[in-house]
Amino acid sequence: MAEPKPCIGILTSGGDCPGLNAVIRAVVKTSVRLNYDCVGFLRGYEGLIEPVSYLPLNRRNTAGILTQGGTILGSTNKGRFSATVGEDQRISIDPAILDQVATTVRQLNLCGLICVGGDGSLAIAQQLFEYGIPVVGVPKTIDNDLGATAFTFGFDSAVATATDALDRLHTTAASHERVMVLEVMGRHAGWIALHAGIAGGADVILLPEIGWTYENVCSKVLRRDAAGKNFTLIVVAEGASLPDGGLVADGSNGHQQVQLGGIGEMVAAEVGRRLHREVRTVVLGHLQRGGNPTTFDRVLATQFGAHAVGLIHQGRLGQMVCYRPPDIESVPIAEAIGGLSRVDPNGSAVKAARALGISLGDCPDLVSPFAVPSASTCEDAPRPTP
Ligand code: F6P
Repeated sequence: MAEPKPCIGILTSGGDCPGLNAVIRAVVKTSVRLNYDCVGFLRGYEGLIEPVSYLPLNRRNTAGILTQGGTILGSTNKGRFSATVGEDQRISIDPAILDQVATTVRQLNLCGLICVGGDGSLAIAQQLFEYGIPVVGVPKTIDNDLGATAFTFGFDSAVATATDALDRLHTTAASHERVMVLEVMGRHAGWIALHAGIAGGADVILLPEIGWTYENVCSKVLRRDAAGKNFTLIVVAEGASLPDGGLVADGSNGHQQVQLGGIGEMVAAEVGRRLHREVRTVVLGHLQRGGNPTTFDRVLATQFGAHAVGLIHQGRLGQMVCYRPPDIESVPIAEAIGGLSRVDPNGSAVKAARALGISLGDCPDLVSPFAVPSASTCEDAPRPTP
């Protein structure tokens, strides 16, 4: 009897994002060309254990998915594999669960399991690898917060959605002379807020990485009023801390990460109260995770998928593919989950924002009627002369 072909498995885990289907398609097309069978596990890691659920993947059932948002395999960021509680806290997966995964791998003759996920999902992948499962990681997240890769796919699409929202808010804010607050996702990193804020012409961008005050935000609004621009666009990252240092979150059940959200309303209420102005809020939420991937994300996801199969083919397991422009490379998953990538307050994007007069909320906008603390980060910022 002929030996069964070696098989490559793939799963998508954690919060979905545009580009997941592009990775699945790339993995299948590359695997078939290298003469591997391919299966996709359903609902993330859950599909690996009882009741094991997977889909044989081939060119036919993955045709046309390049442009589709979501994931044809489904995903979950809850369940029996949770490996992250807080920002840096890890919990160990039950050995009985790991044993079940090993059985599935044996039964399906898997020579490689491609785990597509963010920080938490890759922490699970690393535990599977340490247990002897032939894992390769692919980073995805709209948050772009994985240190080992310059970009994760999903980020560009999320920024495009947030930028589109700002473009739309711009015209209505101008018509009604309103202050508009747009709350965007990103967890503890401000990448989406910063990039969308710059691309969408925001006046104020509030980030987790830069402390800010209501006085400084209000001074920007007043300064714009004084210049005859009677509307202001404020972008706030869901993970930005309030001036008193607190995060706005829904708590945690002990096995999952905190659910961030709600800071937009708080900023709007306080700015409105201080300025006696109409301030409106839009929480963009999961719109940032849905829809078609941008061209950039399609290309990145496709390269990641092809490269992941290449790593398995070369026996380079325990690695995560990453983008180190202009190349797609790989790093040990253990190294990749070690450090989150956050906005550098002295980085070039922040400097450009300041150069254009965008307020990061940490400095007064020229002469302010409010009391202003002197933040050291303000000293270097290029400032217009009053
Ligand atoms: O990590 C991606 C992300 O969309 C974050 O930006 C956000 O905080 C979180 O997931 C939301 O998760 P959920 O879909 O579980 O509410």
